[in-house]
Amino acid sequence: MTPTTDQDRVLIFDTTLRDGEQSPGATMTHEEKLEIAAALDEMGVDIIEAGFPIASEGDFNAVSEIAKNSRNSVICGLSRANFKDIDRNWEAIRHAARPRIHTFIGTSPLHRAIPNLTQDEMADRIHETVTHARNLCDDVQWSPMDATRTEHDYLCRVVEIAIRAGATTINIPDTVGYTAPRESADLIRMLIEKVPGADEVVFSTHCHNDLGMATANSLAAVEAGARQIECTINGLGERAGNTALEEVVMALRVRNDIMPFATNVDTTRIMKLSRRVATVSGFPVQYNKAIVGKNAFLHESGIHQDGVLKNVETFEIMKPADIGLNEDNIVLGKHSGRAALKSKLAALGIDLGQNQLNDVFVRFKDLADRKKEVYEDDLWTLVRDAEDETPDRLELKDLKVICGTGGQSAEMVMLVDGKETRAETSGDGPVDACFNAVKEIFPHQAKLELYQVHAVTQGTDAQATVSVRLNEDGRIVTGQSADTDTVVASVKAYLHALNRLLVRRGKVGEGADTREISYKDVS
Ligand code: KIV
Ligand code: ZN
Repeated sequence: MTPTTDQDRVLIFDTTLRDGEQSPGATMTHEEKLEIAAALDEMGVDIIEAGFPIASEGDFNAVSEIAKNSRNSVICGLSRANFKDIDRNWEAIRHAARPRIHTFIGTSPLHRAIPNLTQDEMADRIHETVTHARNLCDDVQWSPMDATRTEHDYLCRVVEIAIRAGATTINIPDTVGYTAPRESADLIRMLIEKVPGADEVVFSTHCHNDLGMATANSLAAVEAGARQIECTINGLGERAGNTALEEVVMALRVRNDIMPFATNVDTTRIMKLSRRVATVSGFPVQYNKAIVGKNAFLHESGIHQDGVLKNVETFEIMKPADIGLNEDNIVLGKHSGRAALKSKLAALGIDLGQNQLNDVFVRFKDLADRKKEVYEDDLWTLVRDAEDETPDRLELKDLKVICGTGGQSAEMVMLVDGKETRAETSGDGPVDACFNAVKEIFPHQAKLELYQVHAVTQGTDAQATVSVRLNEDGRIVTGQSADTDTVVASVKAYLHALNRLLVRRGKVGEGADTREISYKDVS
């Protein structure tokens, strides 16, 4: 059943760029944040939490730029409960057509103990900070962090204080993913019934997924009266993540018969954005993830395939097209031309400018020469590589690898700022030998925190997509690459991460960083 316009609206508050980005290793570049924010805005997300402006200069700049570029969405920044945080937040978001200040404090006994505040002292702090925020901005959201483990009487008391001080949205976080659906609903219902002034504000739910119940808890809260859901694309977020946007939005759409609420989200943009967030965050989507997993619309068993062929509704509760997965009959291979590629990309919702299309076409031809059929997933990978604008200061030119039972070694030729350099190394396996070669040519201290390989498609000629995550003195970068040769994909992903690290260290020639690339010079 499709939602109708007269239904109650549930506001979708996306925090991919704040709570999502906070998850260890999910750091995005400035440009990536702007791109994701623009896509969320276009998708119809009501509120975008763009970051935590006081956290760093980078966060501040990203939030203010997103605010300046915003079109329809409200742009929100997060701040702790003190004037300095709130002022800095306002500085960043005030450029938005529709700014929102979000301020929070931990209200449960465990959280109150950290700043060592009594209940009364914390209540005063909430009154002062929400009043301050409201004097700056008409749209103020307040959150009692760890609300689900806060004493009910105290929670009612502080929510009332925040409402009296001018908060317009009260967000109830299940910060540690501890609650369960019935309890989530009861809590919202209790607040709406008991707190004076509750009918003047929007209640919001913010659930973490530690017990795998974030989506169920959010929907239960909506049924009890919450009208805003906080969520992230792919459920990205601290620990087990936040409520997944695609899950709540599609649940409200598919089960509109029992949950008659509408959202403003254009669901046909979900798949594209999910893939983009997976790429830029370096967090791949698990194959069996609801809605956006690679297998979410695949039918393997004979009985299921037979049923789907006879009547698709036997085993499908939503159409792939509803989330932007379009099937067509074009199979791409080495004889396919630019027009076929363009039409296939368009069917996937990918609209490239002429230069990018040319770039993807060259990459496509190269891949099609090595692979019989080029699948949709291969195209997503090609587009991802073409859209990446990280300068290739470190580039793989040539690689020979010996592997097998007799030992593993690598002979590598790399271009470092255009200059040819080589190394010969050995290692515990071909990838280790290659990574040692990279380290010999470009010595660095970055720690390899994650190395992941996935096959993009099926078959022994499938492309392997490799993600790596590096950490250099707390600067975390990810790199991705794909190739039909797993070892080549690994080296390219490693170099991609190192090239991003060079950008993070500082722009060469602009004097931001004095560290030159040092490398083994064979000339
Ligand atoms: O999980 C949480 O409590 C939060 C708050 C800052 C809203 O992310
Ligand atoms: Zn959170």
